[in-house]
Amino acid sequence: MKIVFYGAGNMAHAIFTGIVNSNIVPPENILLTNRSNEERLKSYNKELGVNYNYDNEELLKDADYVFLGTKPHDFDGLADRIRPYINDNNKFISIMAGLPISYIREQLGTSNPIARIMPNTNAHVGHSVTGISFSNNFGPTSKGEVHDLINAFGSVMEVNEDSLHQVTAITGSGPAFLYHVFEQYVKAGTNLGLEKSEVEESIRNLIIGTSKMIERSDLSMEQLRKNITSKGGTTQAGLNALSDHDIQGIFEDCLKAAVDRSVELSNNDE
Ligand SMILES: NC(=O)c1ccc[n+]([C@@H]2O[C@H](COP(=O)([O-])OP(=O)(O)OC[C@H]3O[C@@H](n4cnc5c(N)ncnc54)[C@H](OP(=O)(O)O)[C@@H]3O)[C@@H](O)[C@H]2O)c1
Repeated sequence: MKIVFYGAGNMAHAIFTGIVNSNIVPPENILLTNRSNEERLKSYNKELGVNYNYDNEELLKDADYVFLGTKPHDFDGLADRIRPYINDNNKFISIMAGLPISYIREQLGTSNPIARIMPNTNAHVGHSVTGISFSNNFGPTSKGEVHDLINAFGSVMEVNEDSLHQVTAITGSGPAFLYHVFEQYVKAGTNLGLEKSEVEESIRNLIIGTSKMIERSDLSMEQLRKNITSKGGTTQAGLNALSDHDIQGIFEDCLKAAVDRSVELSNNDE
């Protein structure tokens, strides 16, 4: 299998690092290119053994999967660059937020299979939750190969294209929402009178430990909570205070705002 990355920025780096580390594809079969930053490509070659090239014909010849990893506003320029060299073997995987498959198809001037993925920043630690949507002409074998590639940097959830807006809100932006909640927890903990640096360190470890509990347990989050809540105890008192606020409603507003913005951006309504 030969894989090409057009755009070798932060997100692409997380993705091809995961693919190389999972040994699905030998690093020499992964080819990177970018606009002009050759130093960056050289450093990736040194770090992982992946190749790079600026010759579009060489890049796309025999390429099975072509990742489109530029910023959305750079895509039209990218499409001009690669359009003349696309061949029947090339299947495209866009990581660009907001650009519909129909638009990518139109700009590339091809009817080749196209998938869209919505990863999140946890790809850097191999734990992205990635939504994926395929064009109708993506065959089952190719779909399976793409699932394997995505599993190399986390987990994958296949959805129809419209639902990528919800995925963008829930898991694409999700790490930032959780960081925000953790920030408030640190502030509240510090206000109890303890040293801020110590509270922050303790809460980092609290989050890591709680994540590992979730990872290693088959129990629902509700059950995990119930298991550590004794009637009349301190946890119960804190939870009672939390339920005086509409926390679910707050997150409903948060996710709705993110979904609405995703829809606006995909309509080029910036
Ligand atoms: N970061 C995230 O958490 C995240 C999450 C989900 C989706 N995404 C999506 O991932 C995409 C990339 O984001 P990023 O943060 O990785 O961006 P980035 O670090 O700015 O990287 C952009 C890359 O695109 C390259 N590029 C621009 N024009 C090009 C062209 N005509 N031909 C080839 N390469 C070109 C740049 O090359 P030079 O360096 O040479 O200019 C650079 O390697 C975005 O579309 C974003 O929506 C990101």
